[in-house]
Amino acid sequence: MTIRAVRGVHDILPGEGEKWRRVERIARDVFDSYGYEEIRLPIFERTELFARTIGEATDIVQKEMYTFEDAGGRSLTLRPEGTAPVCRAYLEHGMHKLAQPVKLWYLSSFFRYERAQAGRYRQFWQIGAEAIGSDDPAVDAETIVLLADLLDAVGARDVRLRISSLGSPEARAAYRAELQAHLREHRAELSSDVRERIDLNPLRAFDADDPGTREVMAGAPRLLDRLSDEDAEHFAEVRALLDRAGVAYEVDSTLVRGLDYYTRTVFEFESAALGAQSGVGGGGRYDGLVEALGGPPAPGCGWAAGIERILLASDDAGGAVSGPPTSTPPVDLFVAFTDLTRRADAFGLTAEARRAGLGAQMELAGRSLKGQLKQADRVGARFVAILSVAGAALKDMESGEQRDVDRVAVLREVLRGRGAA
Ligand code: HAM
Repeated sequence: MTIRAVRGVHDILPGEGEKWRRVERIARDVFDSYGYEEIRLPIFERTELFARTIGEATDIVQKEMYTFEDAGGRSLTLRPEGTAPVCRAYLEHGMHKLAQPVKLWYLSSFFRYERAQAGRYRQFWQIGAEAIGSDDPAVDAETIVLLADLLDAVGARDVRLRISSLGSPEARAAYRAELQAHLREHRAELSSDVRERIDLNPLRAFDADDPGTREVMAGAPRLLDRLSDEDAEHFAEVRALLDRAGVAYEVDSTLVRGLDYYTRTVFEFESAALGAQSGVGGGGRYDGLVEALGGPPAPGCGWAAGIERILLASDDAGGAVSGPPTSTPPVDLFVAFTDLTRRADAFGLTAEARRAGLGAQMELAGRSLKGQLKQADRVGARFVAILSVAGAALKDMESGEQRDVDRVAVLREVLRGRGAA
């Protein structure tokens, strides 16, 4: 029996690499221009970091975490998301003492034991941004515009932005009780799984597909109508700034996110180019998260976008991401040799060529000279140096011309030839 990859993961093969590199390159450029700095964090953390912040009642914590005990008896979890780890690092490294907000970005893989389907994996990649240390509505608006710019730059199609506000934890608790009362009143009309979750997670009822529940939810009270004056004002300012930046959005009071740490602004970008898993990226404000980890008040806001979904949303013949490779490095020199005694010299010449800044490759598979020239052609080499017992020759692959050269002059000739091209 051959061993295959486990369910829900995927390999990124060489032919796809360029698309990924392109998205990464664009993301880096956009983050640079917005003044974000990269952060790289461990793949696993203490389980309680996620349990305490994402929320005990969420799907992620209840059934999607890859949790294990290490040899020292600690409960560890492969990170299912990046916000809690970034806040942990912010606190651990005293970043609250820096000028605020601290603006960080990451590009990493994450792990969730979800039902695998198109666009949904058990190991997936996210590009994420977190701005921590300010509750200014301009932070919310800036992070949203940043993601809009990024999706635009990579060529994601048919993107729509929904935003809402969840207010403060207090307003949400009062609203939750009101919503539970509404659900209990209409208990008989609800689907059984919504009914079972009235106590645990009543907000998820807004996500339900069954017609009975949908009808009940159409008449349900909305959190947006229950915000404190301060939170409503904050949300109005975020919207005004988005208007000012020309970013279109819909206010959707039914928007629910699958993580509990959110306060105030929440948002989601969807693409109609995707199927059922239409969420390209989402996020929001998390004003109590750093404090929940034992830190000082440090309100934050951010988002994450799935790279697989970004690629799916941009992937068509005309899509920018599937365009021609933009950065295949040129092969200036291929070093061939006709006799095994010349292999060490070929190796030395290739190393020297690379140090001189040339793209260089050498024969690595024991081919005949004919086979080596074919290989040089395949990799797109500009020149081929042929080392033999008799000396050295240089073949210009563009003109097809081949001439004997002094072995010590090979590099100089290639550098000159390349300069002239
Ligand atoms: P999230 O909505 O759970 O938020 O994930 C963000 C994005 O990651 C989704 O919109 C989707 O594109 C991608 N994603 C999530 N799960 C999967 C999966 N199983 N397969 C493929 N792609 C997936 C968060 O993770 C928050 N940490 C975002 C955030 C940052 N909020 C504030 N700061």
